[in-house]
Amino acid sequence: MINRGEQLAKLSQEHEASLVLAKALLEVAERADEQELLATIDKLKTYNDEELELHFQHEERTVFAPIFKEHREHIPFATALLKDHGEMRRLIPNLHIGAAREQIHYFAELLRKHTLQEEQELFPLIAEQFTDEQLAAIVDFTPIH
Ligand SMILES: [Fe+2]
Ligand SMILES: [Fe+2]
Repeated sequence: MINRGEQLAKLSQEHEASLVLAKALLEVAERADEQELLATIDKLKTYNDEELELHFQHEERTVFAPIFKEHREHIPFATALLKDHGEMRRLIPNLHIGAAREQIHYFAELLRKHTLQEEQELFPLIAEQFTDEQLAAIVDFTPIH
């Protein structure tokens, strides 16, 4: 029997990695070394393809969808968080060296803010209010490639 909230462990681990990445990205933007900025654009695209997009899908299908159906008082909060997903999805393919420093800085701040809101505000709500079936669906999620 797992404790309520432990179903969120995988997403929370990914959040820890996102916070580490956001900190590193802020340092890259600060240094503004052109080669490093270029390499970081590539790194971010790979991170998006291999991790972030799947993380977003996991949350959208198993966290946000049940909120829209059955925890409707949290729709405004979920909508704001979904807007962040959209903004990050738009930003990654548009990264380019001419604006890389500002874009990477902006992305890092957004990723950090978004991740902290989910981890500190959204996940405690879910752990408390989701049904056992809804929490189990978070663990059982398999992404569609
Ligand atoms: Fe998210
Ligand atoms: Fe997240």
